[in-house]
Amino acid sequence: MCGIIGYIGKKEASDILIGGLRRLEYRGYDSAGICTVESDDLVTTKCIGKVVELEKNVNKNNHKGSIGIGHTRWATHGIPSNINAHPHYDTKKNFSLIHNGIIENYIPLKKFLEQKGVSFNTQTDSEVLIQFISYIHEKEKTDFFESVRLALKEVVGAYGIVVMHKDYPNTLVAARNGSPLIIGLSKDEKFVSSDVSAVLEHTRNILYLDDGEIILLNQEDYTIKNVLSDRIVSKDIHKIEMSLDKIEKSGFEHFMLKEIYEQPNSIKDSIRGRVRDNKVVLGGIYDKTQDILDADNIYITACGTSWHAAQIGSYIIEELLKKPVKVEYASEFRYRNTPIGPDSVVIAISQSGETADTLAAVKKANEMGSLTLGIVNVVGSSIARETDCGIYMHAGPEIGVASTKAFTSQVVILNMLALYLAEKKGIENTIIEDTIKDLHILGESINEILKLNEKILNIAKKYCNAENFLYLGRGYQFPTALEGALKLKEISYIHAEGYPAAEMKHGPIALIDEKMPVVFIVTPNGYSKILSNIQEVKARGGKIIIITLVDPSEMVDFVDHIIYIENSEKISNSLSPILTSIPLQLLSYHIAVRKGCDVDQPRNLAKSVTVE
Ligand code: G6P
Repeated sequence: MCGIIGYIGKKEASDILIGGLRRLEYRGYDSAGICTVESDDLVTTKCIGKVVELEKNVNKNNHKGSIGIGHTRWATHGIPSNINAHPHYDTKKNFSLIHNGIIENYIPLKKFLEQKGVSFNTQTDSEVLIQFISYIHEKEKTDFFESVRLALKEVVGAYGIVVMHKDYPNTLVAARNGSPLIIGLSKDEKFVSSDVSAVLEHTRNILYLDDGEIILLNQEDYTIKNVLSDRIVSKDIHKIEMSLDKIEKSGFEHFMLKEIYEQPNSIKDSIRGRVRDNKVVLGGIYDKTQDILDADNIYITACGTSWHAAQIGSYIIEELLKKPVKVEYASEFRYRNTPIGPDSVVIAISQSGETADTLAAVKKANEMGSLTLGIVNVVGSSIARETDCGIYMHAGPEIGVASTKAFTSQVVILNMLALYLAEKKGIENTIIEDTIKDLHILGESINEILKLNEKILNIAKKYCNAENFLYLGRGYQFPTALEGALKLKEISYIHAEGYPAAEMKHGPIALIDEKMPVVFIVTPNGYSKILSNIQEVKARGGKIIIITLVDPSEMVDFVDHIIYIENSEKISNSLSPILTSIPLQLLSYHIAVRKGCDVDQPRNLAKSVTVE
């Protein structure tokens, strides 16, 4: 959460900062701000709201200078307001700071500073940090870089920060602990950012800072040190190949719609090169294959949409490997006394690879001696680097806050993982062969589903004013129902619940009346049972929408709307959520658009949740 960008070079910093913030806005959009150094003075513009608001104010202030920092905020400490917007100053306005994360010991630090006579302007933990850096600077008489380093030694919590000092107009200092930070390098320019998307149009040479590291940057050069030991750290530079159109809307009204339509290709990219001679090949876990097979227990941990994919993954792994798999929310896993150890495998699923809880769950599993396996989309992200082995999703950048193509790629990868392990274990099962065959037809099937868009739009028009929705499915369609409900909640603010269809009788059925739309996901698996569930809703006046892989002729008389995915009845059960989730994505998309909601940046949410 929160996007941060820093620039030092020869160009007008404000232009580069605003451009970067636009790309980072998916990380938070409660407020935005920039600060530049001009004639040995810090000039700041910040305001509540989105980057477009900031732009108007920046133009008024006529920022100059070729060094600056910028921030887009997802509020944690302190309400979204002009005053709480970043960058923050110390009292003397010598330093300026942008921060992503949470300073956990900000209360004792604040009390300490107050006793020393420091007064505070904002409600943020970030201001405490910059005041503390300034205090250390004065007390220890250390230079800019060393003051930041010494202050950070006393800080507990998560941070990605960039700091400027008005008397050092050729220096940026950045540091990371728990929150992502990358450095972009080109000959006479340096960039700091929460992710590569903000610097890609300027440079493709990237350094990834690790936790506990601090960097000093000027136009020509940089030095990285470890915060605690003060030792110099050397690092490899990575070349990013991704093309710019991957992070642009390319004619679509929203990133979310673009990403829904990208799925025939993103799925293919996830599979590409990984199926040879009817066998799945997963290079990223090859060395650890036997350890995974020998493990006593498998945990999968994730948050949000990735957790739904994890549920689907657990079903297919259990089905093929006949081994129990436990799925846990990372936020629970990390604090519970989970019985894991060297005989456990912990699989972490994360689109961003930066979700704080999932990252902490991985660290915990590493400490307990478990083998950790990451299923991650963002190459080089923290979870990718923290895990022992992994499988990249290769779905391409996902910018819309509501996850779509990442979910379907996760389901593909989990299928491939199960198929790979089953084959290595010598398991013979026709499901393996059939599922591998079906992997190849997914792209084409999705293209067909996208042709149902108009039909789904018409259903959305009918139900966009509903106050509640229920999503029901059995087996693999239960986690899919959860995902459908989450999509609707996230972007249209309609209350929605996903349930196993049979569980409806144990509570949600009480909610059903003629105002309640109920989405059923119908597949051949458990078909007759779900028909009964549909009847039960019908008998209570609920409005029934079905997404079905089964020919709907038997259901036409008692359902209100049919979304029929033709020629897919025989798709492998474990891959079916990929097909059925796409109409659900489109349904929530169109409902949200009809309601006038901000689809790509829904209220209160952020794409990458780097706080707990
Ligand atoms: C946020 C996003 C969700 C995402 C979840 C987990 O809540 O809005 O779309 O599913 O984080 O993110 P991850 O990057 O770990 O998959």
